[in-house]
Amino acid sequence: MWREKLAPYALAVDELKVKFEHMQNAYKNAGVYSPIEQIHGRVKTISSLLEKVQRKHISLDDIDKRIDDIAGIRIICQFVEDIYKVAELIRRRSDMEVIEEQDYIKNTKPSGYRSYHMVIKYVVETLNGPKEIHAEIQIRTLAMNFWATIEHSLQYKYKQNMPANLRSRLLKAADAIEILDSEMSSVSGEIMDAQTIFTVRSNLVADILNNIQNLYKLANKREIIKIQDEFFRIYESEELERLEKFAKELDVISEGYRAQSLR
Ligand code: GTP
Ligand code: MG
Repeated sequence: MWREKLAPYALAVDELKVKFEHMQNAYKNAGVYSPIEQIHGRVKTISSLLEKVQRKHISLDDIDKRIDDIAGIRIICQFVEDIYKVAELIRRRSDMEVIEEQDYIKNTKPSGYRSYHMVIKYVVETLNGPKEIHAEIQIRTLAMNFWATIEHSLQYKYKQNMPANLRSRLLKAADAIEILDSEMSSVSGEIMDAQTIFTVRSNLVADILNNIQNLYKLANKREIIKIQDEFFRIYESEELERLEKFAKELDVISEGYRAQSLR
C-alpha cells in the first residue's frame, strides 16, 4: 500500500530533478552563469512519514493534503542573490503552482536555520490519470546547506535534549555562515566572471573538437592535421578571443565540406 501511495511522489521528484537539471544546462549552454549549483531530491521515508503523521495527529486519509514534504527538492546556490533568482524562475513556470513561500533567510529560525522554502502544486500522470501532489522546494546556499546538514545530525543525535552550550555554538556558527555568505556576495561579480569564462571556454573546445572529429570523415588527412596543430597552438595560448575566432573559422570550413558532401 505504501509503495503505491508514494509512487506519484517518487515520479514527481524524478521529474522535478530533470527539469531543474535542464534549467542549469540551459544556462551553461548559453555560456552564462547559472544560479543553480546543485539539485537534490528525495521521497520521505515511510518511517519518517509515520513519525510525522503521529506527531501532528494527521489521519492517513489526509496525508496528501496535510504533508507537503513527501516529495522534497533541494536546490543549492553559490550566492544568496541566486536563491531569489531561482524562486522567481519557479514562480514563472506554468507546470508548478506556488502555494506557500517562507523566507527563513530574512526571518532566520530561532535555531539559526536559514533557507528559502516553497511548496508547489505539481501534476503527475499515473495509470489512473493525472494526480495533483504537493512538493517542498528548499533553496539555500552551499554555506547554509553546510550548517543545516550538521545541525540536523546533531538534532537527530540529541533529539529534544541538545546541550545549551552546543546550541549556542551552533548559533555562533550560523552567524559566521551569514557573514561568509555576505562576504562571498561582495565578490560574486569576480567569481561569476571567472566561472563564465571557464564555461564559455569549455563549450568552445567541445564545439571545436566535435567539428574536427566530423572533418575526419570529409576532409583530407593533411588538412585535418594542419587544423589540429593550429587548434593546439591556440588552446595553449589561453586566449579566449583567438579560440572564439578559430571556432568560427572552423564552422565555416566544416559547413563548406558538408555542403560539398551533400552534392
Ligand atoms: P513541517 O510540517 O515539519 O514542514 O513543519 P513546518 O512547516 O513548520 O516546517 P518548515 O516548513 O519551516 O521546515 C520544514 C523543513 O525545513 C524541515 O523538514 C527541515 O528539512 C528544514 N528545517 C526547518 N527548520 C530547521 C532547523 O532548525 N534545522 C534544520 N537543520 N533544518 C530545518
Ligand atoms: Mg513545512
